[in-house]
Amino acid sequence: MKRLLMSLRASMAFDLLMLSSDIKKERWQLTAEGKTYAANGSPEFQLFMAVPPEGISRVELQKKLGDPGFKIGCQQAIKNKWVEMGKSQVSRKVAHVDDSVKDMLVKINNGEAPNQEGIDALKRRKLISPQVWKGYSVKKGPNYAPKRRKPATDLTRENLQSGEWKDLQFKEYNFLAKGFPIEGGYLHPLLKVRRQMQMIFLQMGFEEMPTNNYVESSFWNFDALFQPQQHPARDSHDTFFLKEPSTTKTLPEDYVERVKQIHESGGHGSRGYGYDWKREEANKNLLRTHTTAVSSRMLYALAKKPFEAKRYYSIDRVFRNEAVDRTHLAEFHQIEGLICDRGLSLGDLQGVLHDFFSRLGMSKLRFKPAYNPYTEPSMEIFGYHEGLKKWVEVGNSGMFRPEMLLPMGLPEDVTVIAWGLSLERPTMILYGIDNIRDLFGHKVDLGLIKSNPICRIGL
Ligand code: PHE
Repeated sequence: MKRLLMSLRASMAFDLLMLSSDIKKERWQLTAEGKTYAANGSPEFQLFMAVPPEGISRVELQKKLGDPGFKIGCQQAIKNKWVEMGKSQVSRKVAHVDDSVKDMLVKINNGEAPNQEGIDALKRRKLISPQVWKGYSVKKGPNYAPKRRKPATDLTRENLQSGEWKDLQFKEYNFLAKGFPIEGGYLHPLLKVRRQMQMIFLQMGFEEMPTNNYVESSFWNFDALFQPQQHPARDSHDTFFLKEPSTTKTLPEDYVERVKQIHESGGHGSRGYGYDWKREEANKNLLRTHTTAVSSRMLYALAKKPFEAKRYYSIDRVFRNEAVDRTHLAEFHQIEGLICDRGLSLGDLQGVLHDFFSRLGMSKLRFKPAYNPYTEPSMEIFGYHEGLKKWVEVGNSGMFRPEMLLPMGLPEDVTVIAWGLSLERPTMILYGIDNIRDLFGHKVDLGLIKSNPICRIGL
């Protein structure tokens, strides 16, 4: 603090190298008309002098003075009670007059100031106009020096030891300076929206599923989900298969057997698909195409223990062999939620979805029948976007099929309601981004990541 005050005092003194002040002077200047009067006398004086003691006719007088001089001269001379204007004759009323107008104009021209009354009269007749003069007065200040000394910016060990600090002039602190911008980390919009989604799931009592494996076997990604092996999604045109390692090492054999059964010939009241289920197809490794692969692992794990109701969620990356365009990438993030309990109905699913989406600011929902191999019934979810003033597709949902749940070993009266959506879509809506490549991938502008708002509330 002491050092601060010292430095402030020093810098204030430092400023007084010179003293300066503004000067403003106002003076009067003659107009062109005023200048001719100053040289030749005022028109009223000229008129008076043109009237002989015995008088003169108007016509004659006008001829002598000319039109403008006669007109102005008459006005002023009558006002001054210098002359008498008869019908045709003009005569003097006084023997002698002074041309005070001319005298005042001459004085002003010489830089003298006449009285205020005179100034007002001349101003009214537009014979003078104000002139403002601005300037500065500059004087040497108490700390005048012909050369500027460079102020010290730091108190150093050397000048403390030498005692030099006592006489040093310190540079003034600039408390208004902005300072360096802080180069810290910045959160990508996807991470911010992911956090919002996580908070919503946690508030609704959901537990997070472990999604830390991008590589999955076809078995968990498709077969366990009752997706037949000849389904087009299982083609390499839609799915990325791994070359190395190309197959999974282990699968739970007894469960694999039950899955094979349900695909081939059904069971639990289902007819199955009636085809030759191939183990080699189930063994193929792939990049998971949906996080529902993780949901199937979790439900299988749950089925191995005495039944417990659960609410699970996950938000993680999935991969699809897709042509990239402004709304599609070959990798994106999926948000998935599921609830398993005894006796859940489609009404429960719709209720939970209403709860979930209204926490995102979307309280008007519509459902459209859809198809997924692993859910029945299935519904696409549409939400009314208050900002965009239209219905937008926000997700997919359904009740997992008994063909999926029963081979796992879950009790017959347990149902599972589930839904999924992409993380990219709500993020693009929230942050006003219309091309997915501006949000994710190598074309992303880092400036956008640095400058986007801390958060966005309400879809
Ligand atoms: N797995 C679905 C998808 O990829 C989403 C979904 C999840 C649908 C759960 C129904 C139930 O689109």
